[in-house]
This record gives sequence, C-alpha cells and structure tokens, in this order.
Amino acid sequence: MPTLIVVTRAGDETAIDAREGTSVMEAIRDNGVDELLALCGGCCSCATCHVFVDAEWADKAGKPGEDEDDLLDSSDYRTDLSRLSCQIAMTPALDGLRVTIAPED
Ligand code: FES
Repeated sequence: MPTLIVVTRAGDETAIDAREGTSVMEAIRDNGVDELLALCGGCCSCATCHVFVDAEWADKAGKPGEDEDDLLDSSDYRTDLSRLSCQIAMTPALDGLRVTIAPED
C-alpha cells in the first residue's frame, strides 16, 4: 500500500497507508485527519480539499486539470504546488508522496 505523508495546518506530520486507487483526499479523510472539508465529496466542484504538494513530488503528482485549475484560482492561497487532493489518485508511483493541507479560504 502506498504511503502518504500529510502535514496539517499546525505542522503535524502523519504517515498514512493509502489504498491504491483512492484519492489523496479520501486517504486523508478516512485516516482521521479532519482538516479537509471536501464538501463536494470529490466531484471537483468545491476546492475545500486544497493541498500543497511537496516540490520534489510535483512532477509525479502531475498538473491540475482544467476544471481543477479554475477552482484553484478561487483560492487566496494558490501556489505553483497547489492541487485539489480529490483529483490525485494514489498509485505505487506516489509511494511517499508528501502534501501539506492548505489554509482554509
Ligand atoms: S472535494 Fe470538492 S473539489 Fe475536492
């Protein structure tokens, strides 16, 4: 099972076993980290699952899709490393992925 490392807004770091095929958002939510509202449930329509991908993982995590990109524009905290965590599927290639939960808009 790929490991996902999550850094909370307070800076606490947690390693999570993320089932392959689940989204980063689901892995975070299902493992007791309650900072992601994920209001739309992963439909790419709310932007409340915003995370920053560690720079070294940016290429592997990929770029936002068009809808995701539009939604990220609505955040005051967008950076080049911003992604919506519901749009990143965990795969073996992402074993060790480290993300930080973005501030709440
Ligand atoms: S959970 Fe709503 S956009 Fe990701």
